[in-house]
Amino acid sequence: MATSKLDATTGDFKSLLGTQMDQSDNIESLSPSSQPDSRTSHLTTQIDQDTLQAFYRIDMQVKKNLAKVLAAFKAHRVGAHHFSSVSGYGHDDLGRDTLDKVFAQIVEAEAAAVRVQFVSGTHAIACALFGVLRPGDEMLAIAGTPYDTLEEVIGTRGSGQGSLRDFGVDYRELALTEDHQVDFEKLAASVTEKTKLVLIQRSCGYSWRSSLSIHIINKIIQLVKQQNINTICFVDNCYGEFTEDKEPTAGGADLMAGSLIKNPGGTIATTGGYIAGRAELVEAAACRLTAPGIGSSGGATLEQGRLMYQGLFLAPQMVGEAMKGNYLIAKTFESLGYATNPPAPAQQREVIQAVKLGSADKLVAFCQAVQQHSPIDSYVSPVPAEMPGYDDKLVMAGGSFIDGSTSELSADGPMREPYVVYCQGGTHWTHVAIALEAAAAAIGPATSPDKP
Ligand SMILES: Cc1ncc(COP(=O)(O)O)c(C=O)c1O
Repeated sequence: MATSKLDATTGDFKSLLGTQMDQSDNIESLSPSSQPDSRTSHLTTQIDQDTLQAFYRIDMQVKKNLAKVLAAFKAHRVGAHHFSSVSGYGHDDLGRDTLDKVFAQIVEAEAAAVRVQFVSGTHAIACALFGVLRPGDEMLAIAGTPYDTLEEVIGTRGSGQGSLRDFGVDYRELALTEDHQVDFEKLAASVTEKTKLVLIQRSCGYSWRSSLSIHIINKIIQLVKQQNINTICFVDNCYGEFTEDKEPTAGGADLMAGSLIKNPGGTIATTGGYIAGRAELVEAAACRLTAPGIGSSGGATLEQGRLMYQGLFLAPQMVGEAMKGNYLIAKTFESLGYATNPPAPAQQREVIQAVKLGSADKLVAFCQAVQQHSPIDSYVSPVPAEMPGYDDKLVMAGGSFIDGSTSELSADGPMREPYVVYCQGGTHWTHVAIALEAAAAAIGPATSPDKP
């Protein structure tokens, strides 16, 4: 169907997605006020070329990371015999031990522990922090307030559940600069003898800041080590895996952690998380997951081995698809007058795409539209609700095959100003395109165009 047949107010933003919308499609479901306005009419073939180039760049990134994954599988002679697992204690689980080595090679770390027993990214991060910090130590977060669920782990919110603070670990935080960047000037004089660990959160999380590139993370690590060579540089790596050529451990991070229902699970690992880094620190963290004396030698893989290996193989491609989807989201909502983070032309450094909606109603409507175009629970309408680990109510579209998986297409946000929706994941960009068309139709253009 030719673009000229499209409704003038909706056709152009659809053409960005490479789709051609029949006049009968959904137009009647748009209220006049929710129709994209003429600001979208500048979206022409030039933008399609940009999109093609962006997609090609992403595919080249996928290829590099896939080559690393294949090389690690080859080096460790991964075979079908690694898919079966032992039961009970999980001692001598060949599949698990080999996966640890494969993972460590991919991220250029001394060691890794990839385990189904990690409940989530928060749990893996908590094990790492409790594993290496001791009473009297200080932890310094260097990129503003860490992700919401870490507040109760650190002890800046809630009490009585055995937070780091309850165990006598001090905590300090380095605020971001006014333009939402790491404050390098202050960082240069912030690390003391007492600073046992710095927390470097790679992703923006639920904040309006750029995600940290590997280059910036390296710079942070150098600055920290210049002040105290013994300070452990720990990276919350959630959402960052495979978005660049290297992982933080390749550039000097001592330890990092993440979730398998995000990037490295390739959308098919059913649960779990990982820690990777210097061998003795990985072991210390594993001792928090299991028990001192057991460490990384316990924990059966419970027949999840094939999904974990296959997920790791698929991960670079799934991350690439999510990045393509994010590019389309940024491009579309920018054209509708919304501020986006990162903006479409910027290099993506993680799989989260934020759009500042500025209204609670729009945040809910956006998530409801995404949910309606999800494979699972499309008949459900998300509403803001309490979530364990979070202070604010959240609204979440998560119509995914694996519960809570944010490597599958999902959109969510905390019910707080400035009402930002965080979109992430997506097994194929075409699915993201379908969902985002519906979300754009549901919220319409920005009433007053915003600037980042
Ligand atoms: C930066 C960051 N760290 C940690 C987490 C926590 O991960 P999980 O939800 O797997 O506990 C998230 C979740 O979105 C995050 O964005």
